[in-house]
Amino acid sequence: MAVDYSRLAAGYDRGRADDALDRDYWVRGLREVGQIRPGQRVLDLGAGTGRFSRLFSETNDVVALDPSREMLDVARGKGPFGIVRGDAQRLPFRAASFDTTIIVMVIHHLADFPGALAEVSRVSRGVVVATSDMAHRNLGIMGEAFPSLLRIDRARFPSIDEIVRGLEATRFRDVRIEAVHTAAS
Ligand SMILES: C[S@@+](CC[C@H](N)C(=O)[O-])C[C@H]1O[C@@H](n2cnc3c(N)ncnc32)[C@H](O)[C@@H]1O
Repeated sequence: MAVDYSRLAAGYDRGRADDALDRDYWVRGLREVGQIRPGQRVLDLGAGTGRFSRLFSETNDVVALDPSREMLDVARGKGPFGIVRGDAQRLPFRAASFDTTIIVMVIHHLADFPGALAEVSRVSRGVVVATSDMAHRNLGIMGEAFPSLLRIDRARFPSIDEIVRGLEATRFRDVRIEAVHTAAS
């Protein structure tokens, strides 16, 4: 079952999307790590409000997939990309439909993430998974004030090793780990 973001949809971009940061940090990093070239077909899995679909659609053929109708309603009209309501566990696409799939801050929401990665390997030649490495995450003052936060997040987020093992169990054999730091991590 998908984690429901519908109630967050209206305010999601206000709290998160920042055009300069999204372009210079996220999209640049995703392109470099995933070797995503202009013109390639990209699946944005768990696309939410289409924050990255919009930016990638300037140079790529993009499909934004998300289970939340409300999040996709915000994404609609942001750019020339396809919108599909669906679940990572059962992707409604033919084999090898995409060159690359981007999965940004979604993997911790998936009930069966190894199963979802197997689905991705069926529909896509490559994948970039962007997540937080909770083993090394420093929550700063929030972590000091609420020591249980990190414990909760460590239980929610699959570790980097678990994700690597999940990828290696699929067709994606050549797995690389890239640490990309933000001011907050
Ligand atoms: C933290 S948001 C990230 C959205 C977007 N990738 C971004 O970084 O702005 C997590 C997204 O994962 C989606 N999601 C949750 N469960 C999912 C599932 N089973 N399959 C696909 N997407 C899912 C949610 O609806 C939500 O839009």
